[in-house]
Amino acid sequence: MKALILSGGKGKRLRPLTYTGAKQLVPIANQPILWYGIEAIAAAGITDIGIIINPETGEEIEAKTGNGDRFGVTITYLLQANPDGLAHAVKTAQPFLGESPFLLYLGDNLIEADLRLVLDEFTVNQFDALTLLAPIANPSAYGVADLDAEGRLIRFVEKPAVPPSNLALVGIYCFSAAVHAAIATLRPSARGELEITEAIQALIDAGKAVEARHLAGWWIDTGKKDDLLEANRIVLDDRLHPQNLGDVDKQSRIIGRVGIGAGTQVTNCTIRGPVVIGENCRLENCYVGPYSSIGNQVTLIDVDLEYSVVLQGATVIHIHQRIIDSVIGQRAYICSAPPRPKAMRFMIGDDCQIELCH
Ligand code: DAU
Repeated sequence: MKALILSGGKGKRLRPLTYTGAKQLVPIANQPILWYGIEAIAAAGITDIGIIINPETGEEIEAKTGNGDRFGVTITYLLQANPDGLAHAVKTAQPFLGESPFLLYLGDNLIEADLRLVLDEFTVNQFDALTLLAPIANPSAYGVADLDAEGRLIRFVEKPAVPPSNLALVGIYCFSAAVHAAIATLRPSARGELEITEAIQALIDAGKAVEARHLAGWWIDTGKKDDLLEANRIVLDDRLHPQNLGDVDKQSRIIGRVGIGAGTQVTNCTIRGPVVIGENCRLENCYVGPYSSIGNQVTLIDVDLEYSVVLQGATVIHIHQRIIDSVIGQRAYICSAPPRPKAMRFMIGDDCQIELCH
């Protein structure tokens, strides 16, 4: 059994963060999204992993993630020249996959699932495709399953205007080598992509063994800001190990589960977990509230912040209103303005979102 992680694509929905990096490397609780997938695959016993990358962000993904040693797996990077769809990515990986059955994992999805159970079911029953479904509020943004009254799978449709159910395809799939012949029959969809959903439909139409199961755990497609914050919340709740490798002064209060990285200085702050703070940060006179992740080399001075993600190298100083529900990008700089003239001054990158409270 091999695994294929899709870590190419366009990353449009997470702009502006994805102008300067891969969406799969955006950190959740200070660890790239992609690495959670690799860890889950490694935990399920698959050691031969291919990762699809694109020409823009591939180098960064490869440099950061490495050859797999840190996860106990072997990683082969596979370049997809254009983001022509999930099924196109599988086609690109065909020389790597050969005749092997494989687990397909979307590199921007965070999924709580025991992959070992999923793989066992797929292998024991010799399915050609096993998919996972989860109920979702906005199914039109996903691949959607149509089931009959007994709950048996009838068909899949990609991003339907009128969804046949609220059950979305989660970004984990198991395939036999039969999927390659199905992909070979595909034509580009309305959005110009070779859709994996249509490949699964082609397997159904060809009478192959295709099954869907309900996902037991949680699932987040980290495509948008609020999904990212929600993923951050869940991972901090589930996985944060409290530890203090930094330097916290006597005036500071650390409450609940808080992780503080080496070289970080915390002075006169209240930090109420779950919170993770990276390495070499400087926090002075701050309140950092639950469900916040602060990356490495971040400076926070005179700031109240909660339920937010601050990326590496950002600086936030002297802000007199609480910052909540925010994602602050790498090296971003936020400070208070001088009292006169009473005005706001911006230097904001493309596609940013700012919400001001008057
Ligand atoms: O998140 C689950 C959904 O993922 C499913 O419900 C849909 O059926 C499936 O089509 C997919 O939809 P998205 O539109 O969300 O896929 P997205 O373009 O975000 O790509 C998913 C991952 O695959 C992401 O890490 C980027 C990567 N990718 C994407 C394309 C189009 C590639 O590596 N190559 C590509 O050509």
